[in-house]
Amino acid sequence: MTATPPIAAVVLAAGKGSRMGSPLHKVLHPLKGRPMLAHLLDSLAQIAAEKVVLVVGAGREQIEEAFPALPKAIQREQLGTAHAVQAAEGELAGFSGTVLILYGDVPLITLDTMRALCAAVSGDVALAVLGFRPTDTRAYGRLVTAADGSLLRIVEHSDASETERAIGFCNSGVMAVRGDRLFPWLARVGCANAKGEYYLTDIVALARADGYRVATVEAGELEVTGVNSREELAALEEKLAEAVA
Ligand code: UD1
Ligand code: MG
Repeated sequence: MTATPPIAAVVLAAGKGSRMGSPLHKVLHPLKGRPMLAHLLDSLAQIAAEKVVLVVGAGREQIEEAFPALPKAIQREQLGTAHAVQAAEGELAGFSGTVLILYGDVPLITLDTMRALCAAVSGDVALAVLGFRPTDTRAYGRLVTAADGSLLRIVEHSDASETERAIGFCNSGVMAVRGDRLFPWLARVGCANAKGEYYLTDIVALARADGYRVATVEAGELEVTGVNSREELAALEEKLAEAVA
C-alpha cells in the first residue's frame, strides 16, 4: 500500500460577485451565521490540507481583513477559471500531492466528498471531477463520459451541441488533480471558445490526451449549489433548514 498523498486546496474567489448587489464580498456573506468561506475552510482543516490558497481579485482587502492568515494569490484580471488556478502556482511551488480545486461561492462541499474526490486520484487516474444532476442544466458544463463511465471531456453549455446539451450529468466545478500535472496542463489551455476564456474544464481532455483516466464522483444538488445573488443565498439557507428538519 502506498501512502496517501498530501492535499493542498485552491479556492477560487476572484469573481466580483456583483449580482449580490452588496458592497460585502460574496464569500463573506453569512450562511448559517458564518461567512460562506468559513464553511469550506472548516472542512479543509478537517481533511488536514497541507496548504490552502485563496485566489482573490476585486474586493481582496475585505478577505485579507477577515482571513489574514490565509495565503492569497491575486488574479488581477478575470480571464477564466484555468487562469484563476494558474495564479496559485507560485504559492504551490514544490507541492506534489493532490490539489483540490474549490469555489468560494460553493460552500457546502462535505468532508466526505472532498475525501472521495482526492481518493479517486490514484494510479492512472490523474484527475477527478465532482458531477451532479441539476434540475436545470443550462448554467453548467456537461460531463461527456465514455462507455466505462470515465470522463472524456467537459463542454460548456455555450459551446455544446444539441446532443451534448441533452446530457444531464453536469460539472460542479470542484475537482481534484495530481499536483505534478496540474500546472503543465493549465499552461496548455487556450481560449478558443464561446466566451474567449481560459477554461479549467479543458484539462480533462488534456489529461486524456496524455494517456490518463479521469474519474467522476457524484454529489447531490444541494451540496454543490453555488450562490450568485442574495435570493440564491436565502434559498440555500431555507433548503438547509428543511434538510435538517
Ligand atoms: C464553471 C465551469 C462549469 C461549471 C460551473 C459550476 C468552467 C469553464 N466552467 O462555469 O463547467 O458547470 O462553473 O458552477 O470552469 N473565477 C475566478 N476567476 C475567473 C473566473 C472565475 O476566480 O477568472 C471564480 C468565480 O469567482 C467562481 C468560480 O471561479 O467562484 C466559477 O466561475 P464562473 O464564472 O461562475 O464559472 P461558470 O461560467 O459558472
Ligand atoms: Mg458560475
